[in-house]
Amino acid sequence: MESVLHYIHRNRDRYIAELKEFLTIPSISNNAENRADMERCAAFLKDQLESIGMQKAAVFPTEGHPVVYGEWLGAPGSPTVLFYGHYDVQPVDPLELWISGPFEPTIRDGELYARGAVDDKGQVWMNLKAAEAYLKAQGTLPVNLKLLIEGEEEVGSAHLDTFIQSHQDLLRADVALISDTPLFDRGIPSICYGLRGLAYFQLDLKGSSQDLHSGSFGGTVINPNFALAHLISSLKDSEGRILIPGFYDDVAPMSDREKEELSRLPFDQERFRREVGAPELFGEKGYGTLETVWSRPTLEVNGLCGGFTGEGAKTVIPATAMAKISMRLVPNQDPDRIARLFEQHLKAVTPSSVDLTLTRMHGGNPWLASIDHPAIRAASRAFEKGFGAKPVFVREGGSIPVVTTLAETLGLSTVLMGVGLPDENAHAPNERLDLGNYQTGIVSIAHFFDQFSRS
Ligand code: BES
Ligand code: ZN
Repeated sequence: MESVLHYIHRNRDRYIAELKEFLTIPSISNNAENRADMERCAAFLKDQLESIGMQKAAVFPTEGHPVVYGEWLGAPGSPTVLFYGHYDVQPVDPLELWISGPFEPTIRDGELYARGAVDDKGQVWMNLKAAEAYLKAQGTLPVNLKLLIEGEEEVGSAHLDTFIQSHQDLLRADVALISDTPLFDRGIPSICYGLRGLAYFQLDLKGSSQDLHSGSFGGTVINPNFALAHLISSLKDSEGRILIPGFYDDVAPMSDREKEELSRLPFDQERFRREVGAPELFGEKGYGTLETVWSRPTLEVNGLCGGFTGEGAKTVIPATAMAKISMRLVPNQDPDRIARLFEQHLKAVTPSSVDLTLTRMHGGNPWLASIDHPAIRAASRAFEKGFGAKPVFVREGGSIPVVTTLAETLGLSTVLMGVGLPDENAHAPNERLDLGNYQTGIVSIAHFFDQFSRS
């Protein structure tokens, strides 16, 4: 272990320089024009897996973006860790708000700014560098290691389930490891044991066959913008409660033990409000902020458009209106059932004067793990060694769809050891990664391999 830690320390600058190079590739999975960049990013990763000493490295084409796989199986008799990460990133708009270019990685005040710095390329690199340290300093790892790095996480992992199903032997392991979640706060190592699921829809409303003069036709046909406003307001009441019949039927409440643990965390509601920059917080009545993010399902309008939004005034009745609406789900809600309830509700409240088209987009299952698993205990010891503080156990409001696939298809428990910070602007302009956490993350992952090999 000493030589491994020494290697990580000695190679600090190179480890940062390499991550910067990885971050220059605009691997935006959502944009068709970045297809070649996705291929280039996958090839870059494969080369990297070879150069850190993996015995096998391969790029697997899928119907979507390629999957990168690597393995080192030189520790017979020791357990096998399957690391999962994603090399795709979110789009960068609004571009004008970035202080430095999203694909021109720049260090300011100990933080590395770039799209993907924290979500998730930086944290993928952190795991590769922990493995490299063992293989270069000792010629061996304490565990067998398989790496599965996909390019479609940010767009719902549409082709990953099929890949996992058809490569079950290749991916067989004892536990899955992911670094794609934030710390509870700076200096507090955090192990995440719960994630929300997701059901995402696009709604299209069509009134007339074309835009109409609002003088000649006003009052004769429905305005799809009004119909949309009506539909949206039927989804949630003024106290934040979702009005879709049956929506809450399967929601599992948080246990008393969890509530007790939650109340001990140093959560500062006013600081949270300041950081999000809202005049006042708004959420479902009767639940605290953390409790809501961890354990309550929510419904949001992610975007909407319809009619004239240009400069000046135009007297028109638009022909169409559109909204993107998503729901975050919690145990034991089933995304398919929720999708059905959502559709039934909308069809029931849509007036016959307008045509509704509902398109279901990506989704994922909610996930909740037991914190008594040996791998979670190993992660806890590893984080304590890395950060010099005992970790806290947290749930998160985001989703990582692969986690339930790994459990259902490969029977794997997952350990989430992420080191992002809640204010590092994942999905937003000026995304960044604290380089202190990057370094401590590499050390913690190295300790995890060691600790897990003993359990
Ligand atoms: N890293 C996030 C997941 C995450 C976010 C975990 C916040 C914990 C807290 C991941 O890259 C992500 O953004 N996932 C998507 C999944 C979706 C597209 C199915 C998400 O949560 O929106
Ligand atoms: Zn993300």
